[in-house]
Amino acid sequence: MSLDVNALPINKKFNRRLIAPDTWIINPFNPKINTGRPYVLIGDDCALIIDATHTTLPIREYVEKCVTDKPLKVASTHSHLDHTNDNYMFEDCEIFMSESAWNDIRARREMDDVKGSWRQVDADGNDVTMKPEQRGTYTPTLIGPGDKIDLGNRVIEVLPYVGCHSPGSLIFFDHNTGILFTGDEIECGQMLVMGQPGTKSCVEQLRENIQNLIDGWGDKITAICPPHNGSPIHPLFLTYLVENCDRVLSGIDGEMNIGSMSFMLGDFWAEMPMAQKWMADPDILRSEWKGTSIVYNRTRLHKSDIEQK
Ligand SMILES: [Fe+2]
Repeated sequence: MSLDVNALPINKKFNRRLIAPDTWIINPFNPKINTGRPYVLIGDDCALIIDATHTTLPIREYVEKCVTDKPLKVASTHSHLDHTNDNYMFEDCEIFMSESAWNDIRARREMDDVKGSWRQVDADGNDVTMKPEQRGTYTPTLIGPGDKIDLGNRVIEVLPYVGCHSPGSLIFFDHNTGILFTGDEIECGQMLVMGQPGTKSCVEQLRENIQNLIDGWGDKITAICPPHNGSPIHPLFLTYLVENCDRVLSGIDGEMNIGSMSFMLGDFWAEMPMAQKWMADPDILRSEWKGTSIVYNRTRLHKSDIEQK
């Protein structure tokens, strides 16, 4: 007998976990997809949702009834559907994102169908892919490195980072807790940095990004919070990532199997031809080191490799 999640009371459609004072991670009830988890950061004046995710469940109602009564703002780390689809539920709130993400979303809106995107299934496996009217009509506030979002005695700053997973990815640093919110750029399960469209990703750029975070913010970062896998992560993870990059750059190849929990749940593989293509590409390898996992392209190791493409 399958469970009708939609029939559950609002406080059972999601759960929440406190990871720092006034800082919550929200888990939508969706066992078939390793969906992104929104974070809710509560300040004196308002609360910021980092990545509203793509659950078909009423995320806004849950946050307003079970997490905070403060006015809401939303920030998207990058444009990917599993991070931005539910922005449409927050049309009347200020929504922050990068110019690259906005360009991507505008282009997506202009398409008749979301070709090549991830079909959405609910907890029962039903096709609940977003309808065009659910893709939103909002116009976001564009932000980039150095910009700050003030929640009232709580400032969230965008740190410098060259998007390797998605162009224009935003990395958010919370000055109150020292937590880094990284989107899909830094996480435990897999970091997909093998050259997605629009990026200049290569292992050398990834290493430079991480080293810059360590050099500029290492003494302030207390934890890393990604949306999909592993939260919170110890900041020493950044050092291990640099070591992983150094191993790859020194000629130690990863393995061809790029799978992880994000890829093995539900219909993900069957519904994402691009993921199957990655899996079969002999140049796309997964390098694991001390809990870090970089999925990279061995034809894109150095910046000079990118310039030649
Ligand atoms: Fe992503």
